[in-house]
Amino acid sequence: MSVWVRHQVLEKNSILLIIGVLIVISIGGLVEIVPLFYLKSTIERVAGVRPWSPLELAGRNIYVREGCYNCHSQMIRPLRDEVERYGPYSLAAESMYDRPFQWGSKRTGPDLARVGGKYSDAWHQEHLHAPSSVVPGTVMPAYPWLAERRLDDRYIADDLKVQAALGVPYTPEMIENAQKDLRAQATQDADSEALAERYPKIQVRDFDGNRGRITEADALIAYLQALGTFVDFKLYDDKANLR
Ligand code: HEC
Repeated sequence: MSVWVRHQVLEKNSILLIIGVLIVISIGGLVEIVPLFYLKSTIERVAGVRPWSPLELAGRNIYVREGCYNCHSQMIRPLRDEVERYGPYSLAAESMYDRPFQWGSKRTGPDLARVGGKYSDAWHQEHLHAPSSVVPGTVMPAYPWLAERRLDDRYIADDLKVQAALGVPYTPEMIENAQKDLRAQATQDADSEALAERYPKIQVRDFDGNRGRITEADALIAYLQALGTFVDFKLYDDKANLR
């Protein structure tokens, strides 16, 4: 039987043909995808990108718990309209320590990848408490409980440990100091030298406007104010930012 006759068997039997096609496509897919997991160049390291501080991580957990990702993406695409509106497009490295990542695809509200520093803490406090008080007509729901609920930080060290197990480079020192660091970051005038050494560019202050205690709003606002602020885009070629 020649090769051609044998191939006719495949061509005349649709089930065999489907199985054959699937095998060939999966080999092609594997050859393309598997190396990405081993190549160092898949995610280029970018100066400034660091793991979330404990307070920011707690805020990120609240962001996920409240489902903010249902309306907000965190990925600026390299398209002119996006870059003009939101700033430099997102780099893969900027979400390399996000477990799970928050890229999203639903934008009922604007992209938040670079919202850090765009508004004051007071604006965020108002906006989370009653969005329509600062943006009339907004469909964003209110989250008034965030400013009232004390932040539960009992398990923050465990949280860092889990993230470390998933590959985020939290050191034993960071894990050991997690709760202390969390509280220091949310305290006005705290001694933040060790904190800044562990987490460069960290913003230390009372985020919720209530110095008496550390609330969920403290954590969430610390997270929002850190979003997109780690990489210094002034260092990069203007053209690379399409501007
Ligand atoms: C039902 C959809 C919806 C949900 C859920 C939602 N938002 Fe929004 N968000 C919006 C819309 C619409 C806007 C634009 C109008 C405004 O500023 O309120 C917005 C605006 C924002 C802005 C200002 C962005 C900018 O660049 O002006 C921030 C910050 C924000 N949301 C944070 C959050 C956080 C944090 C959560 C979760 C606690 C959340 N949002 C949940 C719809 C939503």
